[in-house]
Amino acid sequence: MMIVAHGSAVQTPGVAEGGAPRPRTVYHGGAFMTAEDVRLPASTQALHYGTGVFEGIRGYWDPTAHTLLVFRLNEHLERLQRSAAVLRLDLGHPIAELAELVLELLRRNDCRHDTYVRPMGYKLALEPGTSFGVRLSGVSSALTMSALPMGSYVDQRGVRCKVSRFRRVPTNCVPSSAKISGLYVNNALAMEDAVADGCDDAILLDLAGNVSEATTSNVFVVGRDGTVITPPATADLLPGITRASVIELLAAEAGITVVQRLVTVAELKDAAEVFLTGTGVEIAPVLSVDDVGYGGAAGPVTRKVKDLYSRVVHGELEAYRHWLTLLTLG
Ligand SMILES: Cc1ncc(COP(=O)(O)O)c(C=O)c1O
Repeated sequence: MMIVAHGSAVQTPGVAEGGAPRPRTVYHGGAFMTAEDVRLPASTQALHYGTGVFEGIRGYWDPTAHTLLVFRLNEHLERLQRSAAVLRLDLGHPIAELAELVLELLRRNDCRHDTYVRPMGYKLALEPGTSFGVRLSGVSSALTMSALPMGSYVDQRGVRCKVSRFRRVPTNCVPSSAKISGLYVNNALAMEDAVADGCDDAILLDLAGNVSEATTSNVFVVGRDGTVITPPATADLLPGITRASVIELLAAEAGITVVQRLVTVAELKDAAEVFLTGTGVEIAPVLSVDDVGYGGAAGPVTRKVKDLYSRVVHGELEAYRHWLTLLTLG
């Protein structure tokens, strides 16, 4: 989990003059430094117990305005703070300062490309007087933020999904509205199993057998009567910022009220269209779930949502410019 900051698997953001790769800058332990200089002790508590929280935030590069458009930065940082509170983590900064740190990180990395920002708060070390054990209080907090170039994360033409044999961890075991690192073991197991079966992603069910979410995204179902449905927060899911944006966009721009209610597997498989929403996946059409297909390509509602979302994140819809934080890089 800490590997993000050491970065061998990520692209180098750019090439400095003279052809040498530009070292990637991260924010770590209260300072900006090159990713290679990040050192974490083997005793890092979050590494042992998964006691960390994180966010994924996207910035879209506008080459004409030389500006990075960061999508819903405040909403992501608010969720980070809420997740941190669940784990008694002190991020050390109010949201306005976190936002400024993210922008400074992007500036220092000269992010003239579509970018993914990954802030992480995590439990670091036992404080004096705290005895060895699995706990939250009496353990210090740390904050690390990194940024990397990222285009499409999944095939935008569509993904094949499997209903996972792993059920979503219920919220009364680990609060699902918090983006907690350790919880992602659940998602990783489901993803691995889906890929082994030749699929691109897994759809997890809650313990009652209703649709919860995919491994890094929320699920929308378009019924044969045109009704658009998405499972409610009570289905043990992470209520996505993209999900909320899509609900708002469909209502305002297409006159479609998304119904939030439990979705059965039968409804999922009988749907006219299914699509996923998330910061990473953006709007991804689902081509199939198990052995059921949805026509081989994105349906009309999915295409509408994809188009609206793309125009919003690229700053083309004036009414939603307030969802974007603009960082001009000159
Ligand atoms: C498990 C899970 N559900 C849903 C989402 C979608 O959330 P958002 O739209 O805020 O990125 C994500 C991605 O962050 C996720 O990891």
